[in-house]
Amino acid sequence: MSIAILTSGGDCAGMNPAIKHFVDYCFYKNIQPYLIYDGLEGLIDGDIKKAFHADVAGIMHEGGTKIRSSRSKRFFEYDYREQAYNNLKEHGIDKLVILGGDGSFRALDQFYKDFSVPFVGIPATIDNDIFGTDYCLGVDTALNMIRSASDAIRDTSASFKRGCVIETMGRDCGYLALVSAITCGAEVCIIPELPYNLKSLEKKLKNQMKNGRRYIVAIVAEGTKQTKNIVKWLEEDVGIETRATILGHTQRGGNPTVHDRLMAIEFVTYAVDQLLNNDFKEGVVVVYKASKFEFVSIDYVNSNRYQIKNHLTNLAKNMIA
Ligand code: F6P
Repeated sequence: MSIAILTSGGDCAGMNPAIKHFVDYCFYKNIQPYLIYDGLEGLIDGDIKKAFHADVAGIMHEGGTKIRSSRSKRFFEYDYREQAYNNLKEHGIDKLVILGGDGSFRALDQFYKDFSVPFVGIPATIDNDIFGTDYCLGVDTALNMIRSASDAIRDTSASFKRGCVIETMGRDCGYLALVSAITCGAEVCIIPELPYNLKSLEKKLKNQMKNGRRYIVAIVAEGTKQTKNIVKWLEEDVGIETRATILGHTQRGGNPTVHDRLMAIEFVTYAVDQLLNNDFKEGVVVVYKASKFEFVSIDYVNSNRYQIKNHLTNLAKNMIA
């Protein structure tokens, strides 16, 4: 049996440890691993190579993905998927492991419906927005990148009398912003999932400033599109000079944390073990739920929107009003 791995969509820290473990574990299980470069685009173009230990040596600590990624539009078209299938046949590849988000899983699900190539999806996105799993690979590293940037921004804001607005990624999901606001000790947290009341926040912050507060940290999720408005509100209504920092793609890079390395290794072990089962003939996602790994269908992953747990949103109540 031969299994190939590919990474798709937004890259994240943890993908390289996953790729390394995939190759090592396949050799350990006496099967031939393959690497598909450039995600689904590389699958279409036949950028597929037999993997050797040397291909993955020394990548455990590196961010990003050594086999690169893409957001493929061509894969939506049947003819390109057929081309991709022929490439797999040519290399004798039977099964796939894909690291990515739900869009990538949907794409492979369609591929499975077309050509019956079994696969296991591993949730990998800094957004932590995949329904059915409590954790997506890359989130811990992204949170630590945000923590490091926020700590630094706080230092400079506190040296003046300033507000700082820090915009985090996450697409429509406020998870990164919420956890960062809680753990960085922000005063304001603006995420799509939580209604906020600027009037009452303004009153509270003005009071605190009267009593000696010298700086204000506001963390804003990109999905709210409120960064500029919050800067304006801090300057004009709260009355504090303010700077904004959009953390952008810094959140996607960086050396994977211990947590992401371990999660990568666990996810991949479960994925490969599942694919090695001769009776396994479908497409599933390996998820981490209530501290356990399990498999769920693509339909299940797509059946709902990810929701941040209430116990976390409750911790932000003092930052929204
Ligand atoms: O899905 C991961 C993510 O980093 C989002 O948080 C962000 O909105 C988007 O990808 C950015 O995409 P790109 O790298 O294509 O600009």
